[in-house]
Amino acid sequence: IHENSEAASKYVAEEIAKLIRQRQSEGRNAVLGLATGSTPTKVYDFLVEMHQTEGLSFKNVVTFNLDEYYPMLPDSIHSYVRFMKEHLFDLIDIPEENINIPDGSIPESEVKAYCQAYEQKIESAGGLDIQILGIGRTGHIGFNEPGSSLHSKTRMIRLDRVTKLDAASDFFGQENVPDRALTMGVGTIMNAKKVFLMAWGEGKSPIIKDAVEGQIRESVPATFLQIHSNCDFVLDDASSQFLT
Ligand code: F6R
Repeated sequence: IHENSEAASKYVAEEIAKLIRQRQSEGRNAVLGLATGSTPTKVYDFLVEMHQTEGLSFKNVVTFNLDEYYPMLPDSIHSYVRFMKEHLFDLIDIPEENINIPDGSIPESEVKAYCQAYEQKIESAGGLDIQILGIGRTGHIGFNEPGSSLHSKTRMIRLDRVTKLDAASDFFGQENVPDRALTMGVGTIMNAKKVFLMAWGEGKSPIIKDAVEGQIRESVPATFLQIHSNCDFVLDDASSQFLT
C-alpha cells in the first residue's frame, strides 16, 4: 500500500525497469503483459521518463497486451492499439515486431484460431515475465468478466453491463461501447511469472476487498489471483481502505 498512485506507479515502473536491465545483461528478452485503461498510465509515464533520462532501452522487450474491444479497427481512436502507441510505444525504442495486441479487426470466423495463435506466441516468447493488471468493478482482470474460469485462455467474451457503463464516457455514450472483446484468459494471466495488480481511488475499494479477502470464485475472477504464487496487489490508500 502506497501513499498515492504516483508512488505506487513508480514502484511498478522500477520493477519493470529492473527486469529489463537484468535481461539485457544476460542478452535475453523481457516479456511484458500490458494493460490499458486509466490505471497503468502513470507506470507508462515513468517508463518513458526512464527511457528519456536514464537511457532505459526497450530493444529487448516483447509485449503482449491483455485485450482489445471487438470489433475494433486498430487505427480507431477507441482502440487499445492507439492507446498503447500514445502512452508508450511511440515514445520508446521498442521494435514494432515485438509488440502484440489482440487484433479486433479480424473476421469472426478466424477468432478461434487467432486466439490460439496468440497463446502460442506468448509461449514461444518464453511466457510472460511480468503481467500488469488493473481491475474492473465487476472483478474482471483483462476482460475476464464474472463467470470466467480459472483455466480460461485467450478468447472472445461478452462485456458485462457494468463494464460497458464504465467505458461509456470514452465512447461518448454507452450505446457506442462494443458488446464484445478479445481477452487473454484467467489461465493465461495465472501463467505469468509475476503479476502486479494495481488499483487507485475509493471507487475500487469494495472490489479490492473482495478480490483480496473474498472467497475464490468465478463470479469475481480477480479472486483467482489469491492462488497465484507471485502476485502483488499494488494499491493506494483509498483503494485499500476496506482491507482488514
Ligand atoms: C484493460 C483491462 C481492464 C482494466 C480495468 C480497469 O486492458 O484489461 O481489466 O484494467 O477495466 O480499468 P481502469 O484502469 O480504466 O479503471
